[in-house]
Amino acid sequence: MEKGMNLKLKIWRQKNTNEQGKIVEYPVSNVSPDMSFLEMIDVLNDSLVAKGEEPVAFDHDCREGICGMCSMFINGEAHGPNRGVTTCQLHMRSFKEGETIYIEPWRSEAFPVIKDLMVDRGAFDRIQQAGGFVSVNTSGRTLDANAIPIPKEDADKAFDAATCIGCGACAATCPNGSAMLFVAAKVSQFALLPQGQVERKERVLNMVKQMDEEGFGNCSNIGACEVQCPKNISIEVIARMNREYLMANVKPEN
Ligand code: SF4
Ligand code: FES
Repeated sequence: MEKGMNLKLKIWRQKNTNEQGKIVEYPVSNVSPDMSFLEMIDVLNDSLVAKGEEPVAFDHDCREGICGMCSMFINGEAHGPNRGVTTCQLHMRSFKEGETIYIEPWRSEAFPVIKDLMVDRGAFDRIQQAGGFVSVNTSGRTLDANAIPIPKEDADKAFDAATCIGCGACAATCPNGSAMLFVAAKVSQFALLPQGQVERKERVLNMVKQMDEEGFGNCSNIGACEVQCPKNISIEVIARMNREYLMANVKPEN
């Protein structure tokens, strides 16, 4: 039988939001290169439970790059060393035999640590609730969305923006703790489509207001968000959100 990898994990352990955390070292052996990063933590947790120790708390749900829950820093990079993938899509073959791997939660004031690698991303939920939706008329006279012609270029751009999974890597990576890539993706997704026009102005104003209230910083213009985003959301969406915000603030002349 093929022998697996031996690794040294240095994992952030923190009992709760109020207690001080620290890095704890765990050796793991016989890790298959074909395992996902989360499966590797599952293996570690099985061994911790077998020894009567507390397993490492981490968030996950879909394990296929859709839900945005598996958020963590791996060797200082959001979602690990590979571009355009989430932690759950990262395989152990991306690491070397004998490697030391640092695993930490998002570091952002607006995402307080709940336990170990789990953070509270409720701030993103509240921003989304402030305007990341379209109101639908259910009177029975609603026009079928598929019957509305949309230029291909707009549809493609809206789709690209809509691939944001709300993972928070952009805000956690930004030296200024800015959530602008996330908010701009949501604003762009609707601003580009006919269905998003009714609430267009209120949406950008309300989402930006909520973003500021949650304590996220302003765009640092460094571009780390775009590099570490697992969905390759382009920083161009931030320019679009800034234009949307400006236009929403212009009052029509009497
Ligand atoms: S823009 Fe990218 S990094 Fe930010 S929340 Fe969306 S998917 Fe995650
Ligand atoms: S667990 Fe859903 S994106 Fe990773």
